[in-house]
Amino acid sequence: MTPYNNILLETIDAVARITLNRPAQLNALNDELMDELSYALTACDANPSIAAIIITGSDKAFAAGADIKAMANLDFETAYLNNFITRNWDTISNVRKPVIAAVAGFALGGGCELALACDTIVAADNAQFGQPEIKLGVIPGAGGTQRLTRAIGKAKAMDMILTGRMMDAAEAERSGLVSRVVPLAELAGTALKMANIIAGYGRLSTMMAKEAVNLTQEASLSSGLQFERRAFHSLFATADQKEGMAAFIEKRKATFKKP
Ligand code: CAA
Repeated sequence: MTPYNNILLETIDAVARITLNRPAQLNALNDELMDELSYALTACDANPSIAAIIITGSDKAFAAGADIKAMANLDFETAYLNNFITRNWDTISNVRKPVIAAVAGFALGGGCELALACDTIVAADNAQFGQPEIKLGVIPGAGGTQRLTRAIGKAKAMDMILTGRMMDAAEAERSGLVSRVVPLAELAGTALKMANIIAGYGRLSTMMAKEAVNLTQEASLSSGLQFERRAFHSLFATADQKEGMAAFIEKRKATFKKP
């Protein structure tokens, strides 16, 4: 018997599948659900017989966001002191084993952010992604402004976050938000097959591959820009810069050095 009230946890060979299970609220994320998810993820990560993890929801909703009814009367002091919604969020990204989000239906607000915190997203053709917090007078609070922008770029992220519109599965795939889109009936099987393939590889290599790829998400814009500027400066030490700029001024074709 599962000890959880808001999620289901199954193990299928070396794969753990966590299903968000608050159907009446479209899997809206409340503290109890986040506590259970965090506990289950930590347990799976520590369990040597588990090699990969799937997080999924229902056919209608992966998760429709943070529970609006639970937070409608929240004040700043309580939100700040309790580190509201984000209190267990880091657990998801701290899991060292690969985590696949299998998304059908709505993945909105915190639901989209939960999917983004996973290592990759497989979507059903009925999936709808969005950060509609702006319509509630707030902004994404669990990573949406950061992870969505890294995933799909500034223009589209601004569009999504400032208008609150939804993005369908086809646009999500075009934008690089999801790795693949499959018919709804094939979502569970596809995610499981993917997880099984990962589970079949070496444990160290899959974990290190995940760690290495995720590191690319951590570099700050300012350090990236600083690196770029110093590289730009260093090119002024090269003969090719002298030749290239001289050729422009002398209205002739540049002849660069052969390596
Ligand atoms: N919180 C609490 N309850 C929610 C919910 C949420 N985020 N989303 C849906 N529900 C509830 C509804 O209130 C409704 O409950 P009742 O039957 O008791 O009225 C039930 O789930 C079914 O929802 P709808 O009747 O609205 O279903 P629908 O199919 O007509 O619409 C929907 C679906 C478009 C997803 C719509 O429910 C919706 O817009 N939900 C809110 C989405 C949202 O704004 N998410 C962002 C939350 S803020 C956030 O997540 C902050 C953050 O960054 C962490």
